[in-house]
Amino acid sequence: MSQEKSVKLSSGHMMHLLGLGCWQSPPEELSAAVEAALDAGYRHIDTAYNYLNEEAVGKGIHDWMNKATAAQPRKDIFVVTKLPMIGMYAGGVEEYLRKSLKKLNLDYVDLFLIHHPVGFKGAAHDKDLMPKDKNGMVNLDYGTNHIELWKEMEKMVDLGLTKSIGVSNFNANQIRRLLAIARIPPAVQQVEMHLEFQQLELQKFCQENNIFMTAYGPLGSPGRQLPGEAYKPQLLNNALVKMIADHHKVTTAQVLIRYWIQRNVVVIPKSTNKGRIQVNGNVWGFHLSEQEMEALLGMNKGPACRSFRQMSRIPGITDHVECPFDS
Ligand code: A2P
Repeated sequence: MSQEKSVKLSSGHMMHLLGLGCWQSPPEELSAAVEAALDAGYRHIDTAYNYLNEEAVGKGIHDWMNKATAAQPRKDIFVVTKLPMIGMYAGGVEEYLRKSLKKLNLDYVDLFLIHHPVGFKGAAHDKDLMPKDKNGMVNLDYGTNHIELWKEMEKMVDLGLTKSIGVSNFNANQIRRLLAIARIPPAVQQVEMHLEFQQLELQKFCQENNIFMTAYGPLGSPGRQLPGEAYKPQLLNNALVKMIADHHKVTTAQVLIRYWIQRNVVVIPKSTNKGRIQVNGNVWGFHLSEQEMEALLGMNKGPACRSFRQMSRIPGITDHVECPFDS
């Protein structure tokens, strides 16, 4: 059975199911990684203002577009960036999107996401991503108004600065509130998703509301430095995943990526290693059977296996009315 490489968003635009994740990618490695990804057939690059590497992403895209052998138009590449938590105030959406576009050296992005539902205030400068109050605590913004913010997001589409808009790390109730007032509904919700934490309820909710999901951390994010108590999924050497990978003569990473593609979930494995970028991108030549998909679905253990908890550890954030998750 052949698998489409793109899905059609509610905005009418096509989005590639496979993208290159760029969180924690060192800028000095990233331009070459983006080029390698585009060479390997990726047509979707996911970055964020907060990653502090948009210049490198932009350079990689431009280097690739300018290559004599490849000469590809901008419209063939799907570029995603995100509104930082310090930009979640009236006027901040346009201000920060324009900053991102300048760094990316692009006229528009394909998708602009609100990075996280809780805003921070009082940034002293552009790179002050977690501003602190006088007691050294992260300065949470209790005045963030998602409805006002969403109206500004819609304006970004009207201005032609982004083709589509969406959210990241939101819960279903927060999305519901946006859907109730949206002139342009959120097209995408990006959250952590991997085999042990498949977000099945959120998937159902998003599907019912014509919102595509993007899975970040699909490999279990093995390279991350995490505090001792954090849950560290061991997916790349999981016995079941290995058995399925061996059966198809592919790597476990390819199975972890292909699974989401077959579920029509956009997936953005991160790598700056050319070889791994190529392997991760080589997921179109095999098909997981229904039984294999069922078996992999059975690995889901739910929210206990959420591994991205760094935001939840910010003192006071779990008491914030817009804190998206229980834990
Ligand atoms: P590297 O950038 O050195 O390749 P996730 O997308 O789940 O957050 O995982 C990203 C992490 O997984 C990075 O540390 C990345 O390291 C590593 N990684 C990416 N692809 C592979 C692969 N095919 N095999 C093993 N590790 C990988």
